[in-house]
Amino acid sequence: MTNTHDHEVNVAERRRWNDEQWTATWPRREDLTDVATAPLLDALLPQDGERVLDVGSGAGATTLEVARRTAPGGLVVGADISVQLTDFARRRAEAEEVTNVRFLVADAQVDRIEGGLFDAAMSQFGVMFFDEPHVAFANLRRSVVAEGRFCFASWLASSENPWFLGPVLGEFVDPPPPPAPGKHATGPFAFADLDEVEALLGAGGWVDVDCRPVRTTRRVSRDAIADDSQLRMVGVSDEQFERARSLVDEHLARFLVDDGHYEVPTAFAIVSARAPA
Ligand SMILES: C[S@@+](CC[C@H](N)C(=O)[O-])C[C@H]1O[C@@H](n2cnc3c(N)ncnc32)[C@H](O)[C@@H]1O
Repeated sequence: MTNTHDHEVNVAERRRWNDEQWTATWPRREDLTDVATAPLLDALLPQDGERVLDVGSGAGATTLEVARRTAPGGLVVGADISVQLTDFARRRAEAEEVTNVRFLVADAQVDRIEGGLFDAAMSQFGVMFFDEPHVAFANLRRSVVAEGRFCFASWLASSENPWFLGPVLGEFVDPPPPPAPGKHATGPFAFADLDEVEALLGAGGWVDVDCRPVRTTRRVSRDAIADDSQLRMVGVSDEQFERARSLVDEHLARFLVDDGHYEVPTAFAIVSARAPA
């Protein structure tokens, strides 16, 4: 990985994704985010022998699935700003004996990621955290071959994703500060406006952009959407903890299907684009 930037970018997100508490609980959330894996891979169609870049690969579950599909001749590189999640993904690859995969700590907005040029780039919910998405998309376009594919999943509006507890916890935590001048908002719902996503991809040099909304339900354990450590981490104080937890229980009750499992609506987009010839 070549560090090509001389100033700090994505400072707040880098801090969040390297927070010990947040990253320790993150892999439990895969139960929710894996809702997008099948439609994402149907759009990407990874082939044996291809080189694929997974952007924001996190704990690596999707990366490993793509590596299996490109084996034995292909190579998949997972790039992520989180040191802890990258370590987790490397251990997982070893445990699952997947050898055609590499995990690198890198900022996909500005770093040149070793292992390219790639036949395709992909991301499962890892591209909404760039403070300059058009810069990130241009950087990613430079790491794929001419006519290379780019497919990613990103959440639609939070109002269509009631597993998100932000509105429930609003009274306990400060709202996030507005983006700095000239920077884009970051966070899970930063790409809810698909017209804007299409424009950002175009500004990054991608063509043939297609955004396909998917609305479905997902059966998840409670840990995938809320646990005590998450409440503490977003800033709920000890005094307010019991009240926050009971508001979360009340909000989630409508989705409870059996002991400990919830069936929650999800709404996301599968976005596909191509690098020019
Ligand atoms: C919602 S998680 C998704 C993880 C994984 N793709 C999955 O589906 O489980 C978002 C990931 O994007 C990573 N990320 C955020 N900003 C990034 C950046 N600028 N460059 C690379 N990775 C980034 C985070 O560290 C995190 O692992």
